[in-house]
Amino acid sequence: PNQTQAVQSSLTFSEQSHQMTPNLEVPAGYQAQVLLKWGEPLFSNGPAFDPAAQTAEKQQQQFGFNNDFIGFLSLPLGSTNSNHGLLVVNHEYTVPEIMWPGSPADTALDKAQTDTDIAAHGLSVVEINYQNGQWQQKKNSVYTRRITPLTPMTINGPAAGSDRLKTAISKDGVHTLGTYGNCAGGVTPWGTVLTGEENIDSMFAGDFSQSKEQASLTRFGMEEKAQKSWAKHYPRWDLAQEPNESFHMGWIVEIDPYDPTSVPKKRTALGRFKHEGANVYINQDGRVVAYMGDDQKFEYLYKFISTNRYQADNRAANLDLLDQGTLYCARFDADGTVDWLPLVFGQGPLTAANGFHSQADVVIDVRKAADLLGATPMDRPEDVEVNPANGAVYVMLTKNADRTAEQRNPANPRAENKAGQIVELVPPKGDHSSSSFAWDMFLLAGRRDDPSTSYHPATAVNSWLACPDNCAFDSKGRLWVTSDGAEDFDIAEGVWACDVSGASRALMKRFLRAPLGSEICGPFFTPDDKHFFCSVQHPAQGSSFEAPSTRWPDFDTKMPPRPAVVVINRKDGQVVGS
Ligand code: FEO
Ligand code: CA
Ligand code: CA
Ligand code: CA
Repeated sequence: PNQTQAVQSSLTFSEQSHQMTPNLEVPAGYQAQVLLKWGEPLFSNGPAFDPAAQTAEKQQQQFGFNNDFIGFLSLPLGSTNSNHGLLVVNHEYTVPEIMWPGSPADTALDKAQTDTDIAAHGLSVVEINYQNGQWQQKKNSVYTRRITPLTPMTINGPAAGSDRLKTAISKDGVHTLGTYGNCAGGVTPWGTVLTGEENIDSMFAGDFSQSKEQASLTRFGMEEKAQKSWAKHYPRWDLAQEPNESFHMGWIVEIDPYDPTSVPKKRTALGRFKHEGANVYINQDGRVVAYMGDDQKFEYLYKFISTNRYQADNRAANLDLLDQGTLYCARFDADGTVDWLPLVFGQGPLTAANGFHSQADVVIDVRKAADLLGATPMDRPEDVEVNPANGAVYVMLTKNADRTAEQRNPANPRAENKAGQIVELVPPKGDHSSSSFAWDMFLLAGRRDDPSTSYHPATAVNSWLACPDNCAFDSKGRLWVTSDGAEDFDIAEGVWACDVSGASRALMKRFLRAPLGSEICGPFFTPDDKHFFCSVQHPAQGSSFEAPSTRWPDFDTKMPPRPAVVVINRKDGQVVGS
């Protein structure tokens, strides 16, 4: 008998097959409820969704497009209620080819369409409760809120007020408007949401070759060529006129959803890059640690440690903890250690000789600072999250097909890496403030029969995955991971789960199969683990409004495919995964 055959995951669900289909599929004994769809009115008496008659005014009162991160925050504040709470959802980007009759290109939108497009970005805050076996949105809630690229915000931390942030809409470099490109994020222990501004370069266009910020803009990935229509209609996004506007973006934004009048704050102490998200952990000494990935090929992994300590009984004292502290980038070494290198103005190479004149310069150009410190170029860091059960940190590295054999390094060991990997970091004695952690390779993903992968031998023939992106942990510390790129391997995108320790460590099981053209984002458990929220983002991407590859979730010929938030639970009410 084969010893490995006897190894079983603690996860009891039956594995899903991996073929690509128009529908979302969950295991037997589970059910999926579509809770919030693009265009759904969020306010009572809001305009009904009519895809042929969308306007900016309507979209500002409706659920936005391409839901990504989801945070569930219990009501009342401070409770661990699992049947009543706030849902905070990112709307990362739009797909005009699916949204508009005629399937216009992103750059072809007229001004009115552009205004609608802008309003479909940002976040939604809704109140939801669970009654009679169904979740529902409370439409007349005082908490209901749309946050868009036009919502007033402030810039906090070391970059606040920098001359480099002064623009036509921000004379003081402190006040700004809006957030967009919001990919993943996290919920803090004090009940706020962190949202990551990721691919914000796509909104900008224009010739910046003569700008004194030319090098900085180029390092961030700004290009003259337009990817969207925004710069055509608004000087704010024209790099020829407003190069500094791009410095208002690429931050972690903190939002207090319990206070609908609160002004979102851009936490510049956490650095400016293509933020996937940020996840906060309270260190054993009470300081707050935030882990973050810069989701681009050959970019870096970061952590931030606050100066001040978390106070469990004083929420107000925690609300600006992320403004003061030290930011670090990661260098992985072959001896199994990862060193955290401080990004502090005046230290090492971060001086005027290299163009840094203040900590504002360090955080605005943090990629350049990390280059100089010798951080390890990674295969696109997406979610980075602490497992509350064992205190280890898990890094989802989605892929990097451009890595050459010469560019391989211990944590990114494969050339032409199309399938990604998961790296585990272990702080010494559980101390996340340590400057050196141990690390190891948790999983090298890819086809089951690819010899460069590292699957548990008991992994089912259909349970391999590719391109890990978002993750979550249940209360037992089991890892739940989503994919973004599995369709390139001719299998459905989805959700997988595994144990992280014992004989079944990293034994993956496929939990969910995503509709065609979509990816699953934002997995999030209620505190009792009985409900699993996730986003179905960009269903039917790659097809068109007129001939979508799926009409999920309505399957109505009058409706286009619609990104939507889904909540999954067990029909018998037991814990998800059990
Ligand atoms: Fe928006 Fe890094 O995925
Ligand atoms: Ca992502
Ligand atoms: Ca992704
Ligand atoms: Ca996506």
